[in-house]
Amino acid sequence: MALKITVIGTGYLGATHAAAMAELGFEVLGLDVVPEKIEMLRRGEVPMYEPGLEELLRKHVAGIEGSTGRLRFTMDWAEVGEFGDVHFVCVNTPQRHGEYACDMSYVDAAFASLAPHLRNAALVVGKSTVPVGSADRLAAYLAEHAPAGEDAELAWNPEFLREGFAVQDTLHPDRIVVGVRSERAEKLLREVYTTPIADGSPFVVTDFPTAELVKTSANSFLATKISFINAMAEVCEAADGDVAKLAEAIGYDDRIGKKFLRAGIGFGGGCLPKDIRAFMARAGELGADQALTFLREIDSINMRQRGQMVELARQALGGGPFLGKRVAVLGATFKPDSDDVRDSPALNVAGQIHLQGGQVTVYDPKGMDNARRLFPTLGYADSAIEAVRGADVVLHLTEWREFRELDPAALGEVAADRVILDGRNALDPALWRKAGWSYRAMGRPTA
Ligand code: UDX
Repeated sequence: MALKITVIGTGYLGATHAAAMAELGFEVLGLDVVPEKIEMLRRGEVPMYEPGLEELLRKHVAGIEGSTGRLRFTMDWAEVGEFGDVHFVCVNTPQRHGEYACDMSYVDAAFASLAPHLRNAALVVGKSTVPVGSADRLAAYLAEHAPAGEDAELAWNPEFLREGFAVQDTLHPDRIVVGVRSERAEKLLREVYTTPIADGSPFVVTDFPTAELVKTSANSFLATKISFINAMAEVCEAADGDVAKLAEAIGYDDRIGKKFLRAGIGFGGGCLPKDIRAFMARAGELGADQALTFLREIDSINMRQRGQMVELARQALGGGPFLGKRVAVLGATFKPDSDDVRDSPALNVAGQIHLQGGQVTVYDPKGMDNARRLFPTLGYADSAIEAVRGADVVLHLTEWREFRELDPAALGEVAADRVILDGRNALDPALWRKAGWSYRAMGRPTA
């Protein structure tokens, strides 16, 4: 009989995972503790912008015309415990308020709610990004609190999906990593993932701590690549070099690779910044803090980029205070193809200039509602051209395709001054300069 799957937590990761599991042919039951979320999902609506996710949900959510009916949602833990052979725990692990460490309260609450309902043999699979050692602790918790005892087993299966590519990354992962303690757990997870769609991805079997560490070290490596190229941008800036050419040239070396070498205002979002901080905090607890002191520098290079963008804008406006200056900001989300503004470098730069007296007008293709909620005092416009109207300087801070396709001549007609600062090194300098703009990007020559 086919395995029955539950997905606990229907945020970014959980909603995508639940839809993907239904797409793979499983009967899936998703649980969340927020009633509004469950109601939305039951209607086939997604609480965030993610390309392709709503279509995939609607294809499977029970009750939607023409759907397979394989995907249902509930708030009832007993129903989840009764239903599932495999339970994926996908709740979030944010940064603890005012600290570097990770907040495990949602994970702990999920295990506390689920365990008493595990009466039958089941595999609980943690997908959340957690401090190393958590799986050991949670396995002991299950053994103690699940009525099924040892038959309710734990596995750890980190998730590597990127926002904006969540569906694609889930259905076609570049690797599957499972931390297991028994052959049975490995066999069950192979059964889940060895399907016509996910087949062919490398399947790496590890112990618990390694599985947990794979995720945090992968994110640390990515953060390091970005901060490395941003450090090179600072040097290029000082030496009149061109960091975009430098990145291209070093990227031809296969050992280095081209990806994640785009200099600019740095990384943000709900993962990389908090994951490297939580990793440092955990290493400290383990007595291995020296091994990760470099991550402190990675974090500070990253945060410095935001300040440097503010300084570039100040210089572009003549070097004085921002008071009375009109600044157009293109982009609010932490990356394109997402409406996520968590720890967004773009909004941080916009906010800093606003706090220093600048008159900031922001436009973003998908992130306006979230940006307004987070920064209600900033100015907002309904289009790029409206944001740019009357601006003394334009800041390009999130590299949406829409911005790359803008007509610099048309924007030049409405701007007070034709000065654009490209905080993502993603626009074509020649195109903008041809239309009479002064184009400036971090780590690149001025003309
Ligand atoms: C990341 C990891 O990539 C993913 O594997 C993990 O599961 C979750 O964290 P995500 O947060 O969606 O995914 O974003 P990602 O594409 O990694 O970008 C992170 C940030 O780095 C963005 O703010 C992006 O603008 C920035 N970035 C990326 C750069 O500044 N330069 C680059 O070259 C690449």
